[in-house]
Amino acid sequence: MTKTELLARLCPDLDLSAVKPSDWHFAPSNIALGKYWGKRDAELNLPLNSSLSISLDYLGSRTRVMLCEGAADEVVLNNRVQDADSAFAQRVSEFIDLLRGEHPQRFRVETSNNIPTAAGLASSASGFAALTLALVDSFNLTLSPSEMSVLARMGSGSACRSLFTGFVEWQAGIRDDGMDSFAQPLEIDWPGLCIGLVKVDAGQKAVNSRNGMNRTRDTSTLFKSWPEQSVRDMANLHEALESHNFELLGSTAEQNAMAMHATMIASWPPLLYWQPESVAMMQRVWQLRNAGLPLYFTMDAGPNLKLLFEQRSLKAVQAEFGDLEVVTPFDS
Ligand code: PMV
Repeated sequence: MTKTELLARLCPDLDLSAVKPSDWHFAPSNIALGKYWGKRDAELNLPLNSSLSISLDYLGSRTRVMLCEGAADEVVLNNRVQDADSAFAQRVSEFIDLLRGEHPQRFRVETSNNIPTAAGLASSASGFAALTLALVDSFNLTLSPSEMSVLARMGSGSACRSLFTGFVEWQAGIRDDGMDSFAQPLEIDWPGLCIGLVKVDAGQKAVNSRNGMNRTRDTSTLFKSWPEQSVRDMANLHEALESHNFELLGSTAEQNAMAMHATMIASWPPLLYWQPESVAMMQRVWQLRNAGLPLYFTMDAGPNLKLLFEQRSLKAVQAEFGDLEVVTPFDS
């Protein structure tokens, strides 16, 4: 199935004459505890495996769209107009094309992130989720949360999880049209759970997730073991969430992230997102854990560590990692 066919199925009543400026829409960033890595269908952005994330509360993207004259869309990121040829503006325009088709209407998209863009903090997730909400508003679409998640998935896989708060699961689905591949919030909360964002390098990452996934799939023999790892970890994450077993949650998330990175490192050319500071921090976490502190980490396709701990460890963690942004998704 093509994107155009999927969109016709998702939004059969698209009416370009009814578009209007949208309100501002916010979507949170999310951190996967069980990662999405690898596609079974690149055209529809369908994943090989299910994934499970935690949304980052107030950290995310705020976006609105309005109509504009001219030949190209205008994309404004953090108050700076983006070059129409930039990778960022192109991705935004391609996403709008899904709804706009061949229609000549151009849009101005204003978006701002309160997290570093493309530094592995999943800002593409919150960005495409907020853009989805703004476009649904602008085009006056009536979509269910699951249908909106399917639409957001077309922009960036992890964006389908950023439409929701708390713990969120993205079921890989089995249908060829991908209509069963969307995210849903889990009815589980965890007061006292803390996510600590350690800033290692806020620069742009060298290889984006899409290219990273393709390279891993095409060249890494370790990638064969990834689906099995993922299925096992998803079961453990569910068990950890249901029993509020923090050690099981942290150890599963950390091993899942390390296994994902192992598949990348075994690619050719090797895909190593880590900086020396990332490794130093991992070792610091392991030392602290050996000394009795219940502290774990996860990492996405970037050099930054995301620490996982509970409120009872907050002071000890802050004493070790000074420059830490701490998010408590269930306590605000
Ligand atoms: O949504 P994408 O295409 O940027 O891929 C996200 C990939 C990871 O962040 C590494 C894992 C995940 O599940 O978020």
